[in-house]
Amino acid sequence: MTFIKQIYDLLEGRRLFMACCIACGLIFAAANLIPPLLIRKLIQWLTEAKPAGDLIEISLLLLGIYLLRGVSRYGYGFFSHVTAYRVMHALMTRVYKHLQNLSHSFFNRQRTGNLMARSINDIEAIEDFIAHGIPETALATVIPISMVAVLFYLNPELALIAILPIPLTAFLVYRYVSKVRTMWHAVRERLSELAALVQDNMSGIAVIKSFARERECARQVTHRSATFHDRLIKANTVSLLPAGIIEATGGLGIVLVIWSGGNMALNDSISVADLFVFIVYMGHIYQPFLQLASFNDVLQRAAASTERVFQLLAIRPEITDAPGVTVPKIITYDIDIDALTFGYDPNTPVLHDIDLYIGEGDILALVGPTGAGKSTLANLLPRFYDPQQGAIRIGGYDLRDLPLSFVRQNIASVLQDVFLFHGTVYENLVFGHPDATEHTVREAAQAANAHAFIRDLPKGYDTVVGERGVRLSGGEKQRLSIARALLKDAPILILDEATSSVDVETEALIQEALYRLTQNRTTLVIAHRLSTVRRSPTIAVLDEGRVVETGNHRSLIDRGGLYARMVRAQDLTRNGKILSRIATREPQVAD
Ligand SMILES: Nc1ncnc2c1ncn2[C@@H]1O[C@H](COP(=O)(O)OP(=O)(O)OP(=O)(O)O)[C@@H](O)[C@H]1O
Ligand SMILES: [Mg+2]
Repeated sequence: MTFIKQIYDLLEGRRLFMACCIACGLIFAAANLIPPLLIRKLIQWLTEAKPAGDLIEISLLLLGIYLLRGVSRYGYGFFSHVTAYRVMHALMTRVYKHLQNLSHSFFNRQRTGNLMARSINDIEAIEDFIAHGIPETALATVIPISMVAVLFYLNPELALIAILPIPLTAFLVYRYVSKVRTMWHAVRERLSELAALVQDNMSGIAVIKSFARERECARQVTHRSATFHDRLIKANTVSLLPAGIIEATGGLGIVLVIWSGGNMALNDSISVADLFVFIVYMGHIYQPFLQLASFNDVLQRAAASTERVFQLLAIRPEITDAPGVTVPKIITYDIDIDALTFGYDPNTPVLHDIDLYIGEGDILALVGPTGAGKSTLANLLPRFYDPQQGAIRIGGYDLRDLPLSFVRQNIASVLQDVFLFHGTVYENLVFGHPDATEHTVREAAQAANAHAFIRDLPKGYDTVVGERGVRLSGGEKQRLSIARALLKDAPILILDEATSSVDVETEALIQEALYRLTQNRTTLVIAHRLSTVRRSPTIAVLDEGRVVETGNHRSLIDRGGLYARMVRAQDLTRNGKILSRIATREPQVAD
């Protein structure tokens, strides 16, 4: 019941089209019914001694009906498909926009790629149901029923004989169709197993080759392909049965009609004209069974798809604007993290009772062992998640009391892994700032020390990068990310381990770019290399989700705690000179 309501809702605004489709379908059904009746009339005249009608009249009428049949068939296909495509388009856009608004925690629980692919499959199944399922089933029901009605009107006795094989047909066809369904289901499963294996092997081709496992892997693929092939043949063998059964039992119906109808005609209890109608209609009464038998399958699939799509659409984003939030007229861009506790799973906190403050335009350096929760804290600033306890305030406003778009517009981040979209370098740079002028883009690239390497790319700023484009090194991506953040020109900045895996020279370039970027911005720097933060006036040390120490480099070393141990463990001599600059904002450091 809910399914019918859901489909009805989806047709909102397109119901007129659906009505046109149904009207055309009914005309088509009638146009199928009428020609044999007209021919019956013709036979009646011809078998009379003195023909009572006009041949021209009947021919023109027939011509008209056939024309109408063509037009209505076209019309019903046209309207059903247009309705279905419109529903598909509306649904596709709605699902995408909905997904885009869902919170990070939702995407953490889902495999993102799968999600849209699955939704597209589901939407296609709904489209198919509206374009074919509904109209074709309607015709498959209306045409045989109206034909049987006409037959009963002409000769109830023969009509009864004509439909005798129907229960047998229905039983056999339905039985095999449901069997076929499970078999095809197994085939699809084998196919996706095969596809998954091939894809996995292709992604790991380097590993396969380096361990010389080609032969073994090929054997696995052959084995899976063979199972798939076996299932396919089995399913095919059975799925051709219902059509055969219909041919045979339908034929049985015709034979019954000819045999008993012929006898009746010999006894003059049926006219030749009526017998003709019986024989012609018999060809149409049994055929739709295949359609009807598979309707259940089509319905089940469409119902499952519709339910999944509606379930997805029913998920509410966890992070939304509270009612009535407005952009404050005046705000200072300081950050106050107050008694904050957060866990991705509310029952297992990752951050415990964090208190930190960054004044407007100041820098706070956050260090700590891997897994301590540094990136997690950085994710809370743009409100990707809400804390379970405590609050983060910007300019005294709880993030939850500010418009989400305002918060995010005012924070620029250079994150641990830089994501580039498939597109040109230029498009990636202006992603958050589409109306930036070419001049400012170049300036930002220059300030990020990215201009030189971009210029050397095959097509300069127009080089395509991203998943299917030119591969950039980690350091290059990072500098693009810095340029992107510079272009965004936000008062608050998050730098998450921007110098993890690059050579000394590149690191110097990046540090210089970062130094420019942090000017006059409230900055949270997360660093693994302690040299980066050595000169920072405030360093907070995070361990297992708690702030265990705060102070500057000197005081923390004197304290002899975790920071001091970490410093001892790291080689500070190598990069100390360059790296310390961002933390202190000294343009040149002479050690
Ligand atoms: N999306 C997530 N869902 C669930 N748990 C997560 C998620 N991201 C991180 N965690 C967990 O939270 C904890 C802190 O991770 P986080 O990424 O904040 O550490 P980190 O200090 O940034 O480490 P690193 O220095 O290696 O980058 C880890 O135990 C991690 O497994
Ligand atoms: Mg991290």
